[in-house]
Amino acid sequence: MSEIDWKALEAKYYMQVRQREPVVLVRGKGVRVWDDRGREFLDFVGGWAVNSLGHCHPVLVEALHEQAHKLIQVSNQFYSIPQLQLAELLIKNSCMQRVFFQSSGAEANEGAIKLARRYGKLKLGGAYEIITALNSFHGRTLTAAAATGQPKYNEPFIPLTPGFFYVPFDDIDAIKKATTERTCAIMLEPVQGEGGVNIPHPDYLKQVRAWCDEKGILLILDEIQTGLGRIGKLFGYQVGVFMAKEQCSVFQAGDHGTTYGGNPLMCAAAYAVVKYVIENDIPGNSLRVGQYLLTKLQHIKGEYPIVNDVRGMGLLAALELKEDIAQEVLMACLDKGLLINRIKPNLLRFMPPLITTEGDVDEAVGILEGVLSNIGYKR
Ligand SMILES: Cc1ncc(COP(=O)(O)O)c(C=O)c1O
Repeated sequence: MSEIDWKALEAKYYMQVRQREPVVLVRGKGVRVWDDRGREFLDFVGGWAVNSLGHCHPVLVEALHEQAHKLIQVSNQFYSIPQLQLAELLIKNSCMQRVFFQSSGAEANEGAIKLARRYGKLKLGGAYEIITALNSFHGRTLTAAAATGQPKYNEPFIPLTPGFFYVPFDDIDAIKKATTERTCAIMLEPVQGEGGVNIPHPDYLKQVRAWCDEKGILLILDEIQTGLGRIGKLFGYQVGVFMAKEQCSVFQAGDHGTTYGGNPLMCAAAYAVVKYVIENDIPGNSLRVGQYLLTKLQHIKGEYPIVNDVRGMGLLAALELKEDIAQEVLMACLDKGLLINRIKPNLLRFMPPLITTEGDVDEAVGILEGVLSNIGYKR
């Protein structure tokens, strides 16, 4: 057991931007983590939908180890091999032709927004407005926050970057109405993660694509949460990256850049992970185990009237409660060795590593069910 009170240290020194759960994690392996008291947890938070291969996967550890001994950071003033290998791998497995690596999701969105505005200036008579969705989440930098259609993330920081307009998600008519001659792009998450795991109708994105084609404007898909196999298909990537079709790739030297983005260490790690994901059909596992998780959660909904809704796509799922007891449920699960995430007072989110098995799901759902039953919500 640790001698130091890490929670007190955090309270004293760290900016208090989030109330953390009372667990100090020190070690992880696969879908499990351990805290400084030696307690074991099943991790259905997955570093907020980031740890695709779980914790300390040998493929990732080996790639980091090998590259760390060779070359870590050089800047984009020079060529570096891992960056170009990763670029080729992503392009060959997507419908895009150009890539740029950043350090975070918000930064990748900033890059995509800058690209769309540059495109608007050069090819759309100066159009600069971007339509995004209500309940979206695009990150915490000022412009990504401005793109985010949730007042709690941007109102405290007004004045924001201008030029963003929000419409209801999954509503093609709203997009059509909001489009003007000043619109250069529409920006959406394929499934809204932070906003509540909101899944659009199957034809929504196709309709948006067709509308963008008709108007000659750009479509920006923010896949920071859904990407790299989480919702059952490969596309996207969790480390900051933005990609574009050749004809939209209007940046010229000096238009954009980054110091750390695309460094050899990050790219070698990302290359190893993406290659493993493709070669081992990890998206297929997300699809199969995600469906299993959804079925299990639906069963819980049938048994516990406190559950209002269950939804999910691949290994991104949510359980909506009729009362604001999500934190109580989360804490009780934590006590029983299961880590989950709360996005609203009545909404729990599950985003385990993409290597999660049916057995892990049985264990997690068993704990959740036990907790609901203990709280006294069984039919
Ligand atoms: C859809 C989406 N976009 C952007 C971001 C921001 O990513 P980052 O925190 O890496 O900047 C997130 C983070 O959760 C996200 O879910």
